[in-house]
Formats: sequence, structure tokens, C-alpha cells
Amino acid sequence: MLNNNLLLIPILFLPVTNARYNPSILIIGAGPSGIAAATKLLKNNFTNLRIFEAENRIGGRIRSVKFGDSFIDLGAEWCHGEKDNIVYEMVNQYDVLMHTNLSYKLVYSNGKYIDDEVYQGLLDFAENIDASVTNEGTEKNCGNLESVGECFQKLFNASFSKKYNTEPQKLRVSLDSKDWLEHYTALYDSTFSLLDLSRKSDYKRCEGDLRLNWNGRGFKTILELMMQKFPDSSKQLPIDNKIFLKKEVTRISWKGNSTKVLVRCFDDTTVEVDHVIFTPSLGVLKASYKSLFEPSLPADKVAAIRNFGFGATFKVAFHFPKTWWNASELYGFVWSSDDERRIIADFPEGPIKNGKSWLTASVKFFQAENNPKVLIGFFAAEMVPELEKESDKVITDGCMYLFKTFLGANYTVLEPDAIIRSSWYNNRHFRGTYSYESVKGKTNGKRYPQMLGMPLEYENGTPAVLFAGEATHPYYFSTVHAAIETGYREADRLIGLYRQKV
Ligand SMILES: Cc1cc2nc3c(=O)[nH]c(=O)nc-3n(C[C@H](O)[C@H](O)[C@H](O)COP(=O)(O)OP(=O)(O)OC[C@H]3O[C@@H](n4cnc5c(N)ncnc54)[C@H](O)[C@@H]3O)c2cc1C
Ligand SMILES: *[C@@H]1O[C@H](CO)[C@@H](O)[C@H](O)[C@H]1NC(C)=O
Ligand SMILES: *[C@@H]1O[C@H](CO)[C@@H](O)[C@H](O)[C@H]1NC(C)=O
Ligand SMILES: *[C@@H]1O[C@H](CO)[C@@H](O)[C@H](O)[C@H]1NC(C)=O
Ligand SMILES: *[C@@H]1O[C@H](CO)[C@@H](O)[C@H](O)[C@H]1NC(C)=O
Ligand SMILES: *[C@@H]1O[C@H](CO)[C@@H](O)[C@H](O)[C@H]1NC(C)=O
Ligand SMILES: *[C@@H]1O[C@H](CO)[C@@H](O)[C@H](O)[C@H]1NC(C)=O
Repeated sequence: MLNNNLLLIPILFLPVTNARYNPSILIIGAGPSGIAAATKLLKNNFTNLRIFEAENRIGGRIRSVKFGDSFIDLGAEWCHGEKDNIVYEMVNQYDVLMHTNLSYKLVYSNGKYIDDEVYQGLLDFAENIDASVTNEGTEKNCGNLESVGECFQKLFNASFSKKYNTEPQKLRVSLDSKDWLEHYTALYDSTFSLLDLSRKSDYKRCEGDLRLNWNGRGFKTILELMMQKFPDSSKQLPIDNKIFLKKEVTRISWKGNSTKVLVRCFDDTTVEVDHVIFTPSLGVLKASYKSLFEPSLPADKVAAIRNFGFGATFKVAFHFPKTWWNASELYGFVWSSDDERRIIADFPEGPIKNGKSWLTASVKFFQAENNPKVLIGFFAAEMVPELEKESDKVITDGCMYLFKTFLGANYTVLEPDAIIRSSWYNNRHFRGTYSYESVKGKTNGKRYPQMLGMPLEYENGTPAVLFAGEATHPYYFSTVHAAIETGYREADRLIGLYRQKV
């Protein structure tokens, strides 16, 4: 990664457009927003720059790992949409993104498929209460409610009782699917509780396929593209020697001197620069904003940090000696209320909340792309932080119990020979997966992402510390396309500043 290509070194010494204005810039974080900012600055001849990254790898919440025959993603996995999606626009011409065309199946704990019509009804219900969609019926019923959770509770039973009042079997199955649907809904916004998820959101979906996959190349392809290592590595930008790994920033002093920001690291080294671009997650800010910034942050930024939402989801992938499932299917598992009561006696290990086992918190399992022996699974909501701390054995045995219960009648379930899993919440460089609009964030119509993105300024009004990262995007927050756009935005802020001066 950090090997310099000697041929590229001369480029570093080419004069900048105007050498007097080659300011020193420190980018904190080498996730997609930090890489976006750095590559844009480099292309504009701002060569006096460094990136400090706390982890021992670049990519941040993009984490593509070779597992089985291909790369799987423990972080960002799909390009969500096409129109006005910068990720899609950048890679579209290279033909790497693929449509995901799995057959979505809900399976009941008796091992039988749940009727497609019931499944579709559940998905429609979730779509109709989604915060980024306006639905008149929902508005009429939930207009006075703040959270998706309250609206869900209010409408769920009534809506399926009415729909299936003459079909008791379908009614029972749909009511039994409530737990699954809550976890399904929580997964998309990575919230621990639907009661914290605002019913109104400024989030905008991009039109087009929301599930474009990387066909086993990994989401890391977008980083390689920005650094110009892909598709032709001979054109790569001279960035590797500017990235410093295992360099965790612990203190940013932004007003001690009227023209410099002083940055201290965990290893006690310090640097003084003209500008800092700060990109760590909202989770990192929530946990550390008090100790990170000196003087303390202005009140509106603190309010945004505290009130915008940040949760977590859990991913696990298993490698098997061979494919034993149907590769064209994606499975969601729904417990019948009777079987659900038996779980804790059958499989007591792992987190239990409100009398429910973590085995009720799974959302989906499916085969990784271009990776026929690998199954990926997702878990959501409140048990995620504890789940991350469980041993490989508990996670594996629990998932085997799921596979045998739901798929055992039709398939010979094999033991996996390898497991890999995520741990975003318990890693202090992330403290969760991505941001969402919390009910706390809705008071007074405040626009928290905009506040998160406001720079801290020197007394002369020029930006000292700039903020990028997914949570600072006004309507694409939570995604990689948001992260990249905000990295470019802050690079442009500096480019514009010095263009004025010249
Ligand atoms: C499980 C999961 C699934 C996801 N799925 C999708 C998806 O399908 N599609 C999609 O578009 N998005 C998805 N996302 C969201 C996407 O990954 C993020 O929005 C995006 O990566 C955010 O980029 P960023 O640059 O803002 O932050 P990050 O990627 O978090 O980068 C910030 C960097 O700062 C570093 N850092 C933190 N603290 C310090 C410090 N003190 N000093 C120095 N460095 C520090 C971190 O290590 C990190 O590398 C998913 C995320 C997760 C975790
Ligand atoms: C960067 O510098 C090179 C060499 O001086 C020059 O040719 C190029 O136009 C500059 N690019 C920008 C964006 O200023
Ligand atoms: C298993 O096969 C039975 C009988 O064909 C069918 O009813 C059931 O839905 C199947 N279940 C799964 C998960 O494939
Ligand atoms: C919804 O229906 C289930 C199953 O019949 C029942 O246990 C639950 O109490 C009902 N909830 C509400 C809010 O009516
Ligand atoms: C402020 O920054 C300037 C320029 O880097 C430096 O010479 C000076 O010593 C700094 N002053 C203080 C008080 O840190
Ligand atoms: C696999 O699943 C697909 C989609 O549900 C189905 O059409 C196909 O018949 C299944 N194949 C086998 C061998 O069961
Ligand atoms: C997925 O798409 C390919 C190519 O279009 C097609 O051959 C295949 O049958 C599709 N699979 C499913 C499960 O629809």
C-alpha cells in the first residue's frame, strides 16, 4: 500500500500554480471522504498535504476483505441508486457494478416459504412508513407521531388484521412476522430502536437500482478509482506516501494561534498546519468531541453532534466446504410465536433482550457475489453491540441453529470452515455504522448535517478546521456517495479560498 512508485516522485516537486499559496493541509481519516478530499486537492496541485489515519489500513467504513474466492464487504456493500449518485457516475463506464437479482424469500420456522403475497404486504408496509417517502395514508394516521416506531406500533396489527380478516393462516403468519419486519426496518437506518428513528427525514434516495453490487471486487474499487490505481495503475496519484497509518489524532487546537491549527496524536507527536479536514464518524464525534477540540466546539455544532442519530448493524460471513443452499435465493427467517418461545431453551447462548434471543434479530442471509461457498448474514437493532462481543463459536453455532431450523428440511446444512465478522460499534475509530435522523434531531426544524459540515474559522474568517464525512451531507447522509461528495466539497472550499487569493 505505502510503497512509493519511484517514477512518480518527481511529480511531487512540480511547482504549484502559485507556490506562495501551497498551504499545509492535514486530513484526518482515510475513509472515502478523506480519500476524496486528498485526491481532489492533489489534482489541483495542493501537494503540501498529509492524511492521518487511526487504523492500520485505509478505507474506513469501506472494508473489502478477501474471503473465499472474492472480496466481501464488512462495511459498505451496495451502490444505492444511479441518478445523481457520484459513485455510480464515476464507475459506470467500467462495467464493474452489477444488478443484484436474487429471489427474496421469507421462510417460516416450520421450514416452509411464506406466501409471496404476505411477504410483499410486509415490504409495502415498511415502505409506506419509511421516513424518506411521503404516504398520505400514513400521514393521516401518524401525522402527530414523531418516530417510525410509534407509527409502526400503531398501524401494524390493525393493518394486517383488516387485510386478512377472512384468512386466519395469513393473518397469523403476518403477525408473527412483526419482529422480523422491525429488524428489517431498523437495518436500513442502522438504528438500535425504531422509537429513535424520526418519521420525517431529509434523506433522498437516488433513482435507479438501490442494490448495485461490486461482483466480488469490493467497494474498495471506488477508493482505487479515486486514487487512480484503477483501471490503469500507471496513472496513480502520488498519495501513498502522504498517508500515515496508526496515527490517531487526540487533540485539535484551533485557536491557540490565529493562523495555525495544532494537532496532537495518540503517540504524542504534534503537527502545525494551515488547515485541517476532519472526517471521522459522527460516532467518534459523539464519544470524543469534548476532548478532541480546544477550545470547545460552538453550541450549534455540539447540538448537531448530540442530536443526529448514529447506530450499528452486524454482519457475518461464513465459508463452507461447498454450496449447500440455493444460490439464487436470499432468505429472511420468521419465527412462529410457538417456536420463538423455544429458542432460549434450545440455544441459550448469546445476547437476550426482553426475553428474546439474538436469533430473532437476523434480517437476511444470501450468497456473496462471485463467491459460491460464502453466505453473508445481517443482524440489526439493540443487540448488535453485545453480538459483536460474542465468540466466533457462539455466532457460528447460533447461525447453524438458524440454518437447520429454517432450511434443514430441504437442504443438508454443512458446518462452515471459516467465519469473518464486523465490529463497528466496539471499534473506537467508528463507534457504529452510519448516521440517521433521530427524533431528537427534529426539534425546531434544525438542519443538523449542515451544522456538522460548518467549518471552524480563524478570527479573519478563513476556515481553520473543515468537516467532511457522510453525516455532513444534507440529504445523502449514511452513504458512500455522501462521504465522497462532502470530501470534494471541503477540498473545493480550500481550492476556492486560494484561487481568490491568487
Ligand atoms: C456495515 C456497514 C454497511 C454499510 N453499507 C453501505 C452501503 O451498502 N452503501 C453505502 O453507500 N454506504 C454504506 N455504508 C456507509 C458507508 O460505509 C459510510 O457512509 C462511509 O464509508 C463513510 O465514509 P467517511 O469517510 O465519512 O467515514 P469513514 O469511512 O468512517 O472514514 C473516517 C476515517 O477516520 C478514521 N478515524 C477515526 N477517528 C480517527 C482519529 N481520531 N484520528 C485519525 N483517524 C481517525 C477512521 O478509522 C476512518 O478510516 C455502510 C457502513 C457500514 C459500517
Ligand atoms: C498543476 O500544475 C501543473 C504544472 O505546473 C500545471 O500544468 C497544471 O495546470 C496545474 N493544475 C491545476 C489544476 O492548477
Ligand atoms: C422446502 O420444500 C417444501 C416442499 O417442496 C416447500 O413447501 C418449502 O417451502 C421449501 N422450503 C424452503 C425453505 O425451500
Ligand atoms: C398485535 O397482535 C399480537 C398477536 O395477536 C398481540 O400479541 C399484540 O398484543 C398486538 N399488539 C397490539 C398493539 O395490538
Ligand atoms: C503561531 O504560528 C506561527 C507560524 O507557524 C509560529 O511562528 C508561532 O510561533 C506560533 N505562535 C504560537 C503562540 O503558537
Ligand atoms: C432455486 O431458487 C430459484 C428461485 O426461487 C428457483 O426458481 C429454483 O427452482 C431453485 N432451484 C432449486 C434447485 O431448487
Ligand atoms: C439473474 O440474471 C441473470 C442474467 O440476466 C439470469 O440469467 C438469471 O437467471 C437471473 N437470476 C435470477 C435468480 O433471477
